[in-house]
Amino acid sequence: MTRKSPFLVPQPPLPFRVHSFRYHDGSLHCEGVALERVAEKYGTPLYVYSAGTILDHYRRLDSALGEIDHLICYAVKANSNRAILRLLADEGAGFDIVSGGELFRVLAAGGDPQKCTFAGVGKSQEEIEYALEQRVLSFNVESEAELAYIDRVARGKDVRAPIALRVNPDVDAGTHRYVSTGRSENKFGIALERVSEIYERAAAMPNIAIHGVQMHIGSQITDATPFVEAIRKVTPLIQHLKERYALEFFSVGGGVGIVYESSMASGSGDWWSEKDRVRATTNLPLTIHDYVAAISPPLRAIGLRVLLEPGRLLVGNAGVLLTRVRYIKQTEHKKFVIVDAGMNDLIRPALYQSYHEIVPVREPSGPARACVDVVGPVCESGDFFAQDRDLPEMNEGDLVALMSAGAYGFVMASNYNSRPLPAEALVRGETFSLIRERQTMEDLVRGECE
Ligand code: LLP
Repeated sequence: MTRKSPFLVPQPPLPFRVHSFRYHDGSLHCEGVALERVAEKYGTPLYVYSAGTILDHYRRLDSALGEIDHLICYAVKANSNRAILRLLADEGAGFDIVSGGELFRVLAAGGDPQKCTFAGVGKSQEEIEYALEQRVLSFNVESEAELAYIDRVARGKDVRAPIALRVNPDVDAGTHRYVSTGRSENKFGIALERVSEIYERAAAMPNIAIHGVQMHIGSQITDATPFVEAIRKVTPLIQHLKERYALEFFSVGGGVGIVYESSMASGSGDWWSEKDRVRATTNLPLTIHDYVAAISPPLRAIGLRVLLEPGRLLVGNAGVLLTRVRYIKQTEHKKFVIVDAGMNDLIRPALYQSYHEIVPVREPSGPARACVDVVGPVCESGDFFAQDRDLPEMNEGDLVALMSAGAYGFVMASNYNSRPLPAEALVRGETFSLIRERQTMEDLVRGECE
């Protein structure tokens, strides 16, 4: 029996905005909850997620796909908190996992292992055995060596492993080089020209069962063209394979990008800069509707069950990282706003030079602004959230929100500088709850021996 989520109260879909963070009475709210209250209760740095936004995105994607036979396998790596997994499991979602640990989380959250696809270039024997025992839907295989290894491990357990080969279609997704995966120089997938020969070998392996074809071209892609191009490129191959094997599905992977800049500036308030306003109207996301409208015709032509692996799209705009200003440091050259979150809590700006919108939780009462660096307490020059950014004036003690931090935020956090991992909270309508406790000092040394 699936346990029902305590958060699962049916609610109408939100009117489409990329998220549900708004100012009410001068204070930033997530759905019906003032973020100040959540920060007071659980402290900062604190990740806060909107259940409504996550469900809204999931339901929009699900219904846009309409009559196309499909399964949405949420990419757990984007945000693996059990409460979030449970929200999606209760909606009937499948999961795209990349480790035994992620499979364990999905099971702990009541997810169905038979709706799980297991990706990743370096699966271990233990992970493969665990996934076979749990009867996952498919192993997405990234090399010939891995295929042979899965065959051997499955033989040891006297079962057949369901597989899909990951095809590398060699398209340019036009995204940051660290998150582009569909080019021939990337470590991911198998070159298009070699795939059918490896399927032939797979068909001859006694403990392998061919179930599908998979691809994934990259992440934070804000234009539908590369997706369509990649699907078109693999279509002849899939038609060829369909004639030979009992293929069940084609997985198009994930990768749909979200808005990181000026997601708030279309709201009210006369304190937004002109630049923010312009960005808010020009920097539009690839909408779920446009993405699905673009990929549907080539997918219909393929005529297989479609699997999707969205991560960021479902959770990215649904979360913020709340942090408090500790000090203002004015030097000869710059003004630094030193906050209590660091690169160990949110590494994306340091690792990918990525932009996260920064907004004060108390709505500014006037137009005062300053050009500042927003930095954390970690001993690295790369520990910043913004450099030379024009922001509303901030003072010590102010609470600020780093927007669009729901994906690849907490999951990439570390204990660097022996900083305890931050807490996480989930908002549902007018209520909120803690979904992960802040780590303690004791947690930092747990498991260590002298
Ligand atoms: N499927 C596969 C095989 C993947 O490798 C990924 C992401 C996804 C699905 C989900 O992609 P999404 O829909 O979230 O774009 N840490 C980086 C992103 C790394 C993405 C890795 N793979 C960031 O913070 O931007």
